[in-house]
Amino acid sequence: MDTSHKGKVVLVTGAGNGIGKAIALRFAEAGAHVVVNDVNGQSAEDVKNEICDSGGSAIAVEADVSNSDEVAEMFKKATSNFETVDVLVNNAGLISPMLHFFEADETWWRRIIDVNLTGHFLCSQHAARLMAKKGAGVIINMSSGGATRAHRAFCAYDASKGGIEALTRAMALDLGPYGIRVCALMPGSIDTEGMDEEARRLRGENIPLGYPGEPDDMAGPALFLASDDAAYITGDVIKVDGGMLSQQRSATVDIMPPQNFPPRDSL
Ligand SMILES: NC(=O)c1ccc[n+]([C@@H]2O[C@H](COP(=O)([O-])OP(=O)(O)OC[C@H]3O[C@@H](n4cnc5c(N)ncnc54)[C@H](O)[C@@H]3O)[C@@H](O)[C@H]2O)c1
Repeated sequence: MDTSHKGKVVLVTGAGNGIGKAIALRFAEAGAHVVVNDVNGQSAEDVKNEICDSGGSAIAVEADVSNSDEVAEMFKKATSNFETVDVLVNNAGLISPMLHFFEADETWWRRIIDVNLTGHFLCSQHAARLMAKKGAGVIINMSSGGATRAHRAFCAYDASKGGIEALTRAMALDLGPYGIRVCALMPGSIDTEGMDEEARRLRGENIPLGYPGEPDDMAGPALFLASDDAAYITGDVIKVDGGMLSQQRSATVDIMPPQNFPPRDSL
Protein backbone atom coordinates (compact mmCIF):
# COMPACT_ATOMS: atom_id res chain seq x y z
CA MET A 1 0.00 0.00 0.00
CA ASP A 2 1.27 3.47 -0.91
CA THR A 3 1.34 5.63 2.23
CA SER A 4 3.62 8.29 0.83
CA HIS A 5 1.17 11.12 1.51
CA LYS A 6 -0.45 9.77 4.65
CA GLY A 7 -2.18 12.44 6.71
CA LYS A 8 -1.47 15.30 4.28
CA VAL A 9 -4.33 17.57 3.27
CA VAL A 10 -4.48 17.94 -0.51
CA LEU A 11 -6.89 20.29 -2.28
CA VAL A 12 -7.41 19.54 -5.98
CA THR A 13 -9.42 22.00 -8.06
CA GLY A 14 -11.49 20.79 -11.01
CA ALA A 15 -11.29 17.29 -9.55
CA GLY A 16 -14.72 16.16 -10.73
CA ASN A 17 -13.38 14.87 -14.03
CA GLY A 18 -10.31 14.03 -16.10
CA ILE A 19 -6.84 14.81 -14.84
CA GLY A 20 -7.98 16.39 -11.57
CA LYS A 21 -10.07 13.35 -10.71
CA ALA A 22 -7.16 10.97 -11.39
CA ILE A 23 -4.85 13.08 -9.21
CA ALA A 24 -7.41 13.27 -6.39
CA LEU A 25 -7.94 9.49 -6.44
CA ARG A 26 -4.20 8.78 -6.34
CA PHE A 27 -3.56 11.17 -3.43
CA ALA A 28 -6.42 9.49 -1.56
CA GLU A 29 -4.90 6.05 -2.25
CA ALA A 30 -1.61 7.38 -0.86
CA GLY A 31 -3.30 8.24 2.44
CA ALA A 32 -4.07 11.96 1.98
CA HIS A 33 -7.22 13.75 3.09
CA VAL A 34 -8.52 15.14 -0.18
CA VAL A 35 -10.61 18.24 -0.76
CA VAL A 36 -12.35 17.53 -4.06
CA ASN A 37 -13.32 20.81 -5.71
CA ASP A 38 -15.34 21.33 -8.86
CA VAL A 39 -17.67 23.98 -10.25
CA ASN A 40 -19.92 21.00 -10.98
CA GLY A 41 -20.98 20.04 -7.46
CA GLN A 42 -22.39 16.65 -8.45
CA SER A 43 -19.17 15.49 -10.06
CA ALA A 44 -17.17 16.60 -7.00
CA GLU A 45 -19.62 14.68 -4.80
CA ASP A 46 -19.27 11.57 -6.99
CA VAL A 47 -15.45 11.61 -6.71
CA LYS A 48 -15.66 12.20 -2.95
CA ASN A 49 -18.00 9.19 -2.65
CA GLU A 50 -15.64 7.05 -4.73
CA ILE A 51 -12.79 7.92 -2.35
CA CYS A 52 -14.81 7.39 0.84
CA ASP A 53 -16.35 4.12 -0.45
CA SER A 54 -12.87 2.69 -0.88
CA GLY A 55 -11.83 3.67 2.65
CA GLY A 56 -10.24 7.06 1.90
CA SER A 57 -10.85 10.47 3.41
CA ALA A 58 -12.36 13.32 1.38
CA ILE A 59 -14.84 16.16 1.28
CA ALA A 60 -16.45 17.67 -1.80
CA VAL A 61 -16.63 21.43 -2.26
CA GLU A 62 -18.53 23.05 -5.09
CA ALA A 63 -16.85 26.34 -6.01
CA ASP A 64 -15.89 28.33 -9.07
CA VAL A 65 -12.14 29.00 -8.75
CA SER A 66 -12.52 32.36 -10.50
CA ASN A 67 -14.91 33.65 -7.81
CA SER A 68 -13.00 35.03 -4.82
CA ASP A 69 -15.91 34.63 -2.37
CA GLU A 70 -16.43 31.01 -3.36
CA VAL A 71 -12.69 30.33 -3.11
CA ALA A 72 -12.58 31.88 0.38
CA GLU A 73 -15.55 29.72 1.42
CA MET A 74 -13.87 26.62 -0.04
CA PHE A 75 -10.73 27.18 2.07
CA LYS A 76 -12.93 27.74 5.15
CA LYS A 77 -14.57 24.37 4.54
CA ALA A 78 -11.20 22.71 3.95
CA THR A 79 -9.70 24.06 7.17
CA SER A 80 -12.77 23.43 9.30
CA ASN A 81 -12.66 19.76 8.21
CA PHE A 82 -8.90 19.14 8.01
CA GLU A 83 -7.31 22.20 9.75
CA THR A 84 -4.87 23.10 6.98
CA VAL A 85 -3.87 22.53 3.36
CA ASP A 86 -0.46 20.95 2.73
CA VAL A 87 -0.70 20.57 -1.05
CA LEU A 88 -2.72 22.58 -3.56
CA VAL A 89 -3.19 21.25 -7.08
CA ASN A 90 -4.48 24.07 -9.27
CA ASN A 91 -5.96 21.90 -11.98
CA ALA A 92 -9.30 23.52 -12.90
CA GLY A 93 -9.21 24.88 -16.40
CA LEU A 94 -11.49 25.82 -19.26
CA ILE A 95 -10.35 24.43 -22.58
CA SER A 96 -13.17 25.44 -24.91
CA PRO A 97 -14.99 26.96 -26.66
CA MET A 98 -12.49 27.29 -29.48
CA LEU A 99 -12.71 30.59 -31.33
CA HIS A 100 -10.61 32.02 -34.13
CA PHE A 101 -8.95 35.31 -33.14
CA PHE A 102 -11.43 37.25 -35.35
CA GLU A 103 -14.41 35.50 -33.75
CA ALA A 104 -13.21 36.02 -30.17
CA ASP A 105 -14.83 38.64 -27.94
CA GLU A 106 -14.02 40.19 -24.59
CA THR A 107 -16.43 37.98 -22.60
CA TRP A 108 -14.79 34.81 -23.95
CA TRP A 109 -11.30 36.15 -23.32
CA ARG A 110 -12.06 37.27 -19.76
CA ARG A 111 -13.81 34.03 -18.78
CA ILE A 112 -10.92 31.83 -19.87
CA ILE A 113 -8.28 34.07 -18.29
CA ASP A 114 -10.42 34.33 -15.11
CA VAL A 115 -10.86 30.59 -14.64
CA ASN A 116 -7.43 29.43 -15.80
CA LEU A 117 -5.10 32.16 -14.57
CA THR A 118 -6.93 34.18 -11.93
CA GLY A 119 -8.27 30.92 -10.46
CA HIS A 120 -4.67 29.76 -9.90
CA PHE A 121 -3.82 33.09 -8.24
CA LEU A 122 -6.86 33.15 -5.93
CA CYS A 123 -6.51 29.57 -4.71
CA SER A 124 -2.74 29.89 -4.32
CA GLN A 125 -3.01 32.98 -2.11
CA HIS A 126 -5.30 31.19 0.34
CA ALA A 127 -3.20 28.03 0.34
CA ALA A 128 0.13 29.88 0.63
CA ARG A 129 -1.00 31.79 3.73
CA LEU A 130 -1.84 28.50 5.45
CA MET A 131 1.41 26.88 4.29
CA ALA A 132 3.57 29.87 5.30
CA LYS A 133 2.37 29.58 8.90
CA LYS A 134 3.79 26.04 8.99
CA GLY A 135 6.85 26.84 6.89
CA ALA A 136 6.00 24.05 4.42
CA GLY A 137 3.75 23.34 1.47
CA VAL A 138 3.60 22.55 -2.21
CA ILE A 139 1.57 24.21 -4.95
CA ILE A 140 1.25 22.44 -8.30
CA ASN A 141 -0.10 24.42 -11.23
CA MET A 142 -1.45 22.98 -14.47
CA SER A 143 0.08 24.31 -17.66
CA SER A 144 -0.27 23.04 -21.22
CA GLY A 145 1.88 22.65 -24.31
CA GLY A 146 -0.01 25.79 -25.39
CA ALA A 147 2.21 27.81 -23.05
CA THR A 148 5.14 27.11 -25.39
CA ARG A 149 3.62 26.22 -28.78
CA ALA A 150 0.26 27.62 -29.80
CA HIS A 151 -2.96 25.82 -30.72
CA ARG A 152 -5.04 27.30 -33.51
CA ALA A 153 -8.19 29.10 -32.24
CA PHE A 154 -7.03 28.92 -28.60
CA CYS A 155 -5.46 32.36 -28.05
CA ALA A 156 -7.04 32.97 -24.62
CA TYR A 157 -6.24 29.45 -23.43
CA ASP A 158 -2.64 29.58 -24.63
CA ALA A 159 -2.16 33.05 -23.10
CA SER A 160 -3.58 31.79 -19.80
CA LYS A 161 -1.18 28.84 -19.80
CA GLY A 162 1.81 31.04 -20.63
CA GLY A 163 0.69 33.18 -17.69
CA ILE A 164 0.51 30.11 -15.45
CA GLU A 165 4.13 29.20 -16.23
CA ALA A 166 5.23 32.79 -15.48
CA LEU A 167 3.13 32.78 -12.30
CA THR A 168 4.76 29.49 -11.27
CA ARG A 169 8.23 31.01 -11.46
CA ALA A 170 7.18 34.25 -9.75
CA MET A 171 5.42 32.41 -6.91
CA ALA A 172 8.39 30.08 -6.46
CA LEU A 173 10.60 33.13 -5.82
CA ASP A 174 8.17 34.89 -3.49
CA LEU A 175 7.23 31.78 -1.54
CA GLY A 176 10.56 29.92 -1.34
CA PRO A 177 11.63 31.75 1.83
CA TYR A 178 8.45 30.47 3.51
CA GLY A 179 9.25 26.83 2.74
CA ILE A 180 6.70 26.63 -0.06
CA ARG A 181 7.62 25.02 -3.38
CA VAL A 182 5.70 25.93 -6.53
CA CYS A 183 5.88 23.83 -9.69
CA ALA A 184 3.77 23.17 -12.76
CA LEU A 185 2.86 20.10 -14.74
CA MET A 186 2.53 20.37 -18.48
CA PRO A 187 0.21 17.67 -19.82
CA GLY A 188 0.51 16.79 -23.49
CA SER A 189 -2.44 15.10 -25.15
CA ILE A 190 -4.36 13.37 -22.36
CA ASP A 191 -7.47 11.39 -23.24
CA THR A 192 -10.06 12.57 -20.73
CA GLU A 193 -13.08 11.83 -22.91
CA GLY A 194 -12.45 8.29 -24.07
CA MET A 195 -11.26 8.64 -27.68
CA ASP A 196 -12.18 5.88 -30.11
CA GLU A 197 -9.43 3.75 -31.63
CA GLU A 198 -9.08 5.86 -34.78
CA ALA A 199 -8.88 9.11 -32.82
CA ARG A 200 -6.21 7.59 -30.57
CA ARG A 201 -4.24 6.40 -33.60
CA LEU A 202 -4.37 9.79 -35.30
CA ARG A 203 -3.46 11.64 -32.11
CA GLY A 204 -0.64 9.17 -31.51
CA GLU A 205 0.95 10.07 -34.84
CA ASN A 206 1.93 13.41 -33.34
CA ILE A 207 3.42 11.91 -30.17
CA PRO A 208 6.91 10.32 -30.02
CA LEU A 209 5.71 7.55 -27.69
CA GLY A 210 2.93 6.89 -30.21
CA TYR A 211 -0.20 7.20 -28.09
CA PRO A 212 -2.13 9.81 -26.08
CA GLY A 213 -1.80 9.79 -22.29
CA GLU A 214 -4.38 8.73 -19.74
CA PRO A 215 -5.47 11.02 -16.87
CA ASP A 216 -3.66 8.67 -14.49
CA ASP A 217 -0.37 9.40 -16.29
CA MET A 218 -0.53 12.84 -14.63
CA ALA A 219 -1.02 11.44 -11.13
CA GLY A 220 2.45 9.95 -10.52
CA PRO A 221 4.24 13.20 -11.45
CA ALA A 222 1.84 15.17 -9.20
CA LEU A 223 2.52 12.86 -6.24
CA PHE A 224 6.25 13.07 -6.91
CA LEU A 225 6.28 16.87 -6.99
CA ALA A 226 4.32 16.95 -3.73
CA SER A 227 6.74 14.55 -2.04
CA ASP A 228 10.03 15.10 -0.23
CA ASP A 229 11.77 13.35 -3.15
CA ALA A 230 11.16 16.63 -4.99
CA ALA A 231 12.33 18.76 -2.01
CA TYR A 232 14.85 20.73 -4.11
CA ILE A 233 12.58 21.34 -7.12
CA THR A 234 10.75 24.64 -7.35
CA GLY A 235 9.80 27.06 -10.13
CA ASP A 236 9.95 24.26 -12.68
CA VAL A 237 7.55 22.98 -15.29
CA ILE A 238 7.57 19.20 -15.76
CA LYS A 239 6.44 18.00 -19.19
CA VAL A 240 4.26 14.89 -19.14
CA ASP A 241 3.57 14.58 -22.84
CA GLY A 242 5.06 11.42 -24.34
CA GLY A 243 7.78 13.61 -25.86
CA MET A 244 5.41 15.82 -27.87
CA LEU A 245 7.02 19.16 -27.07
CA SER A 246 10.51 17.79 -27.74
CA GLN A 247 9.88 17.18 -31.42
CA GLN A 248 10.23 19.57 -34.33
CA ARG A 249 7.87 17.76 -36.75
CA SER A 250 5.24 15.08 -36.28
CA ALA A 251 6.27 11.53 -37.25
CA THR A 252 4.11 11.53 -40.38
CA VAL A 253 5.95 14.45 -41.98
CA ASP A 254 9.42 13.93 -40.54
CA ILE A 255 12.41 13.46 -42.84
CA MET A 256 13.01 10.04 -41.33
CA PRO A 257 9.64 8.66 -40.21
CA PRO A 258 9.57 5.85 -37.58
CA GLN A 259 8.70 3.23 -40.22
CA ASN A 260 12.22 3.80 -41.65
CA PHE A 261 13.93 3.21 -38.28
CA PRO A 262 16.15 0.09 -37.95
CA PRO A 263 13.85 -2.88 -37.22
CA ARG A 264 14.10 -4.31 -33.69
CA ASP A 265 15.22 -7.75 -34.91
CA SER A 266 18.16 -6.11 -36.73
CA LEU A 267 19.66 -4.72 -33.50
N1 LIG B 1 -6.53 16.85 -21.33
C1 LIG B 1 -5.46 17.37 -21.90
O1 LIG B 1 -4.97 16.85 -22.92
C2 LIG B 1 -4.79 18.58 -21.33
C3 LIG B 1 -3.66 19.08 -21.99
C4 LIG B 1 -3.01 20.19 -21.48
C5 LIG B 1 -3.47 20.81 -20.31
N2 LIG B 1 -4.58 20.31 -19.68
C6 LIG B 1 -5.02 21.00 -18.45
O2 LIG B 1 -5.30 20.06 -17.44
C7 LIG B 1 -6.36 20.56 -16.61
C8 LIG B 1 -7.47 19.53 -16.55
O3 LIG B 1 -7.91 19.26 -17.86
P1 LIG B 1 -8.86 18.03 -18.22
O4 LIG B 1 -8.50 17.65 -19.60
O5 LIG B 1 -8.85 17.03 -17.14
O6 LIG B 1 -10.24 18.82 -18.28
P2 LIG B 1 -11.73 18.34 -17.95
O7 LIG B 1 -12.60 19.30 -18.65
O8 LIG B 1 -11.89 16.88 -18.17
O9 LIG B 1 -11.81 18.63 -16.38
C9 LIG B 1 -11.74 19.94 -15.88
C10 LIG B 1 -12.58 20.00 -14.64
O10 LIG B 1 -12.50 21.35 -14.16
C11 LIG B 1 -13.79 21.77 -13.78
N3 LIG B 1 -13.88 23.21 -13.87
C12 LIG B 1 -14.03 23.97 -14.98
N4 LIG B 1 -14.13 25.27 -14.64
C13 LIG B 1 -14.03 25.31 -13.28
C14 LIG B 1 -14.09 26.37 -12.35
N5 LIG B 1 -14.29 27.63 -12.75
N6 LIG B 1 -13.94 26.09 -11.04
C15 LIG B 1 -13.78 24.80 -10.62
N7 LIG B 1 -13.76 23.76 -11.46
C16 LIG B 1 -13.88 24.02 -12.78
C17 LIG B 1 -14.73 21.07 -14.77
O11 LIG B 1 -16.05 21.02 -14.28
C18 LIG B 1 -14.07 19.70 -14.91
O12 LIG B 1 -14.56 18.78 -13.97
C19 LIG B 1 -6.79 21.88 -17.25
O13 LIG B 1 -6.14 22.95 -16.57
C20 LIG B 1 -6.29 21.78 -18.67
O14 LIG B 1 -6.05 23.02 -19.25
C21 LIG B 1 -5.25 19.23 -20.18
